[in-house]
Amino acid sequence: MTADYAHPYPTPETLADHPFEPLDFTRFDEPTMRKRAVDFHAEMDRRRSVRMLSDEPVPIGLIETAIRTASTAPSGAHLQPWRFVVIGNPEVKSQIRAAAEEEERVNYLENRMNEQWQQALAPIGTDHHKEFLEFAPWIVVLFEERFRLDEDGTKRNNYYVKESCGIAAGLFIAALHHAGLATLTHTPSPMAFLTKLLGRPSNERPFVLFPIGYPMEGVLVPSLERKPLADVMTLID
Ligand SMILES: Cc1cc2nc3c(=O)[nH]c(=O)nc-3n(C[C@H](O)[C@H](O)[C@H](O)COP(=O)(O)O)c2cc1C
Repeated sequence: MTADYAHPYPTPETLADHPFEPLDFTRFDEPTMRKRAVDFHAEMDRRRSVRMLSDEPVPIGLIETAIRTASTAPSGAHLQPWRFVVIGNPEVKSQIRAAAEEEERVNYLENRMNEQWQQALAPIGTDHHKEFLEFAPWIVVLFEERFRLDEDGTKRNNYYVKESCGIAAGLFIAALHHAGLATLTHTPSPMAFLTKLLGRPSNERPFVLFPIGYPMEGVLVPSLERKPLADVMTLID
């Protein structure tokens, strides 16, 4: 079946000026598609945020591959506005823990998080203690690249930076889970301390921090329900 496009993509003009290649796409039969979809959902449904990670070492190659997977994310104008900073150094992890706990102490104990926010967090049971930041063998901080800087210092725009980084973060989390690792999506806000502590340039801003490792044996997670399909999907057919 071929659709009769009045305006084919790419246009001959674009094709004359820019390289294109045939799409590498695998087509499955419908039962196979259904099984793959259901299996993938079952696997992702087992993903949980883990707040007690063990100090068991994790090979750096697993982190590198997960970052490669994250970097397959679509991005505004394909500008890939992300930078994954990977920290295994114990001294730097201690500094991150100390600075994160200081910010979180103000959030939780000095009411920078308002009453409503604290109530929403109550069933999760989080507080200002962030020991996992030292236990986890790796911390990965995802920085968003707000704009690009040419070698001569000229600013160049990036587009849809937050959307692009959000998608990359999602793929990163899925890749870690698929590899058999655990993580937590952590935002010890405000996170500006990470730019300075990790020596990042001023065009980058911390987006999310991921402690990564294996779960501590017997770790508990909150009993949470995920919304049923009817509450997250609206069909217009
Ligand atoms: C953008 C974002 C920020 C989050 N920040 C924190 C955080 O700072 N600390 C924390 O313990 N959990 C944090 N979480 C994790 C959520 O609490 C968790 O995803 C949610 O409770 C659902 O649990 P699950 O991940 O196990 O499904 C964050 C999640 C997201 C998406």
